[in-house]
Amino acid sequence: MDFIKDAIRTIPDYPKPGIMFRDVTTMLKDARAFRAAIDAMVQPWAGAKIDKVAGIEARGFILGGAVAHQLSVGFTPVRKKGKLPGRTLEESYELEYGTDAVEIHADAIAETERVLLVDDLIATGGTADAAIKLLRRAGADVVGATFVIDLPDLGGSKRIEALGVPCASLVSFEGG
Ligand code: PRP
Ligand code: MG
Repeated sequence: MDFIKDAIRTIPDYPKPGIMFRDVTTMLKDARAFRAAIDAMVQPWAGAKIDKVAGIEARGFILGGAVAHQLSVGFTPVRKKGKLPGRTLEESYELEYGTDAVEIHADAIAETERVLLVDDLIATGGTADAAIKLLRRAGADVVGATFVIDLPDLGGSKRIEALGVPCASLVSFEGG
């Protein structure tokens, strides 16, 4: 996974001082790294009988769409509040300052569908936690969550596994 990690750019002090921003756009523009990342995100779920992929806005759409295509299954967008036109389910989650919310269409998932959650990065796990709660409210069996990047010091993957959802990631960065 070294060449995938090397393809991820780190931008210090973005969006604010002290944050090391892990930028996957440099991995997405690299044909070999993008192809390899999608293959590796799918690999842990071989044989897991995934019915649908859910991707978290915004970079989870790019990766999740490719993962869904690879698995020949449908795709459900988990969007920031206020972007979906039909009837929605909503879950709030904590940010460093205040709260935000994500939504899915109420009819996005059929009861008992086996869903794989995809995003570019897991940090505190707040966003993925809210997405899993939403998908479960819609009737989904969330069989796993798959990320390019884990920031293990922020505890997100442990938090998601504590919800009973196995997590996989391709690379990790210590220290957030
Ligand atoms: C980033 C990242 C994940 C989320 C992870 O998205 O892409 O979706 O944060 O953080 P967490 O594990 O602490 O919840 P961001 O909220 O910056 O929005 P974007 O993807 O739309 O840019
Ligand atoms: Mg995001």
